[in-house]
Amino acid sequence: MDLYEAMRTTPSCRYFTDDPLDDEILHRIFDHARFASSGGNRQGWRTIVVTDPELKRQISELHAKQWNVYLDHARDGVVGYQTTDAATKMDSYSPAQQRLTRTDDFAKSLANVPALLVCCVELWTLAVTDKDLDRQSIVGGGSLYTFVQNVLLGCRNEGLGSALTTLLAAEEAAVAELLGLPDEVAVGALVAVGWPVPEKQYTKLSRKPVEEVVFRNSYGNPFELD
Ligand SMILES: Cc1cc2nc3c(=O)[nH]c(=O)nc-3n(C[C@H](O)[C@H](O)[C@H](O)COP(=O)(O)O)c2cc1C
Repeated sequence: MDLYEAMRTTPSCRYFTDDPLDDEILHRIFDHARFASSGGNRQGWRTIVVTDPELKRQISELHAKQWNVYLDHARDGVVGYQTTDAATKMDSYSPAQQRLTRTDDFAKSLANVPALLVCCVELWTLAVTDKDLDRQSIVGGGSLYTFVQNVLLGCRNEGLGSALTTLLAAEEAAVAELLGLPDEVAVGALVAVGWPVPEKQYTKLSRKPVEEVVFRNSYGNPFELD
């Protein structure tokens, strides 16, 4: 598949068939995804492919705990970074009812998805250059999510559906116990992978135009073509 085509057509898949997933396909995806960039090329990403039904059930329960909290906040339009006017800012981002319904369906059926990829990172490999700033840190994740995005694109290239969620990170202690994570290995994402139900997929993704999100020389000055 053409790279730009894959970048424009990789939705969050919330509905999966029961068809099993071939390990060889997953292995091929990881074998390409591992060429992602990471700070100092330390490649601290570690992924656990969870296919065991009982483990999937337990992970889906942990995810559901957090999803229910999120759902309550999302209904009030207050999710994400909490500043004094977070609620006002998030209003324009309020998820559509349809998306909430789809995501709720996804959360409820997570245990049935063929493979749950628990994407972790070895914390000692990260150089978190914004850790001393007086705001929440975002840099550390950069050395994990490059790999994760490659996995999502790899799935798309194979015709697989995927969905990235980060809710499981809040249940890290329980996940660590369940999957035997060593100390200092953090959970950064859960990626559900399986064959998509075709009639439940988006035909067109909705994203902001370049001019709204990319600026030239100063913030807010749209990066436009002459
Ligand atoms: C950091 C992050 C966290 C996300 N968390 C969830 C989640 O908890 N549940 C979910 O179903 N999708 C989650 N998503 C997927 C987004 O909801 C999805 O990309 C967005 O709604 C656009 O949907 P689309 O790609 O299908 O157009 C997450 C995506 C990112 C990047």
